Amino acid sequence: MALQATERARDLEAYQADLRAAGLDAPWAEPGPLIRPKASAVQARLWRWADIEPLVRRSAEFMTLGRGAERRVLRLDNPGVPERTSTHTISTAVQYILPGEVAPAHRHTPNAVRFILHGHGAYTTVEGDKCVMEPGDLVLTPSMTWHDHGNEGRAPVMWIDGLDSPVLRYLENLAMDTYPEERQPVAAVSGVSERRYGAPGLRPATAESGPTAGQLLHYRWEVTHAALLRQRELSASPYDDVLLEYVNPSTGRSVLPTLGCYIQMLRPGIRTRSHRETSSAVYHVVAGAGHSVIDGVRFDWTHGDFFAVPPRAWHEHANDGGDPAILFSFQDVPLLTALGLYRTEA
Ligand SMILES: [Fe+2]
Ligand SMILES: [Fe+2]
Repeated sequence: MALQATERARDLEAYQADLRAAGLDAPWAEPGPLIRPKASAVQARLWRWADIEPLVRRSAEFMTLGRGAERRVLRLDNPGVPERTSTHTISTAVQYILPGEVAPAHRHTPNAVRFILHGHGAYTTVEGDKCVMEPGDLVLTPSMTWHDHGNEGRAPVMWIDGLDSPVLRYLENLAMDTYPEERQPVAAVSGVSERRYGAPGLRPATAESGPTAGQLLHYRWEVTHAALLRQRELSASPYDDVLLEYVNPSTGRSVLPTLGCYIQMLRPGIRTRSHRETSSAVYHVVAGAGHSVIDGVRFDWTHGDFFAVPPRAWHEHANDGGDPAILFSFQDVPLLTALGLYRTEA
């Protein structure tokens, strides 16, 4: 009997060697189910603005903008994610640009979004549409649209970049082109997309063509903030309090196919109920102070901080102060929804 078992094991070994040689694998040779549930490697974590800001400012000592060094950014690194992104689908960075500097024109397959933090006089030109950005503004650079930045103000400017580059990497479609000149030519008037699509409830009745057709590229803080204030007296989400999503005004859908952008207000004293989602998120604290509990761990945050919520992690938020807390977030909800995989659990 023992001899038979030894023979069988030897035969199986030989069989597996034949499988390997043929480029095959027999998953049933390992004990356990065929599809093994896997915990997320993405970690819940907090990045403090008190740590980030001085390091961002010092980065100018070590990095000169130009060809081959196109963006002065510091990425928010999640130790659970390979290749230094903030969650497995979202890359987040803080970008710094000095007065007079130009971040040369390029385009890439990842979709990108920027949310302005500090400073005045910087612009992003997207396909010739010059968007002059102020703190709290949101500017989109959809996949493969040419874009360059510059700072025409008198002080440094900082903003957040959010990209879906990890998704493009996974799909084996990461690509980038550099524009032949440092800057693209700009349209005769600035803020073209805002002129076309910036009025709530109205859109041009004439068709537009081109890579940014039908899209609002620049969402102004005054408009966003006013919308939040108008909503605060209405009933709100038990999980997020007052939550608004930035959408494409032509389609009503998320601003980018992979990444949704959200702004929310946690009113003073609010403590939300806990829920979890199949999506992941990166939050930035625009104003106020409070805390979030993510999978049982409390993260206290204040103005300027960032925190990441992994997929399927229980999370709840609280505003501990007397002023409203405002959170901006990138969430991969549209990607999960497109795949039929977006779920929530209360
Ligand atoms: Fe870019
Ligand atoms: Fe949530």
